[in-house]
Amino acid sequence: MELEKAKDRGVSSILDQEGFKDHSASRLKRALLLLREHGVLEIVNRVRKQGLKASISFIGRNIRHSIAANASKRFDRALGVDTAGSLQLEYLTIESPNASHGTEAVSTSSKSFDWMLKNLPGPLSDYTFVDIGCGKGRTLLLSRGYGFYRAIGVEFALELVEIAQRNLVTINRDFPGGASVVHRDASLFDYPRGPLVVYLYNPFGPEVMGQVIQNLATHLSSCADDCYVIYGSSNAATLTWFEPLLAETDLFEQCPTQPMPLFWDAVRTIHYCVYRRKKDTQASHMQRASTSNPE
Ligand SMILES: C[S@@+](CC[C@H](N)C(=O)[O-])C[C@H]1O[C@@H](n2cnc3c(N)ncnc32)[C@H](O)[C@@H]1O
Repeated sequence: MELEKAKDRGVSSILDQEGFKDHSASRLKRALLLLREHGVLEIVNRVRKQGLKASISFIGRNIRHSIAANASKRFDRALGVDTAGSLQLEYLTIESPNASHGTEAVSTSSKSFDWMLKNLPGPLSDYTFVDIGCGKGRTLLLSRGYGFYRAIGVEFALELVEIAQRNLVTINRDFPGGASVVHRDASLFDYPRGPLVVYLYNPFGPEVMGQVIQNLATHLSSCADDCYVIYGSSNAATLTWFEPLLAETDLFEQCPTQPMPLFWDAVRTIHYCVYRRKKDTQASHMQRASTSNPE
């Protein structure tokens, strides 16, 4: 019922597999429509108005967008899943005061994901992979190649949770601890025990991020578990507020990484950082624990 309502609100032109308005699919069609409705002269006029350099860069962006959108669809067809598209949150069912701080649902490209995760040391067989704002759950599918013990996605949009859960049916058995999606606002998520890799692909603004980082810090202060945080965003400016927020906890140090190259399966190149829990914060926790419980 809710799903039908959301579809109705979102339907106007191009729809994804589930019938939701998909911004990633409409670019080429929009260009063809413009050509058909206004003719070549209008295009020439627009190029004149914008300048040649800006027009070439605009066309380049759109070509890249179309190639990446096709790569996404190929990925989905190969696995029999639905992870493609760029869905606007305003058309989805979200019961959270944080809805307006969330970003659109776009999945991390598979090459971008591999580039970021190669910064983690192996083996990861004790680790739980957590994607905060997991969208349709593509990273959970991708993470099975890394030998994680378990994968958990956290997502607040009902329709995305349902799609992600359907996607996971095919891979659940690939993780000894299973793969699951939690339908919850990220600021209310309780982290599981054991070593963690927390993945954030620009899910929301600093208002929500502050709370999410605070919760992670509180969780880590109660245990000595290892923890990596991977933060990525196609907008480099978000790193300028993310880094100080994480630094405030004094729990993490940044790992050296290589900038991400341009991948043909990605709409945009991701700017990212990888952080590791400082060893001394783990050691001091163990020391505190042994002092309070000498046995
Ligand atoms: C850019 S997408 C990333 C999708 C996925 N992590 C990936 O990399 O493929 C951001 C996602 O975060 C979700 N999101 C935004 N704010 C949230 C919140 N407060 N709690 C849970 N999910 C949220 C959005 O619904 C969207 O699906």
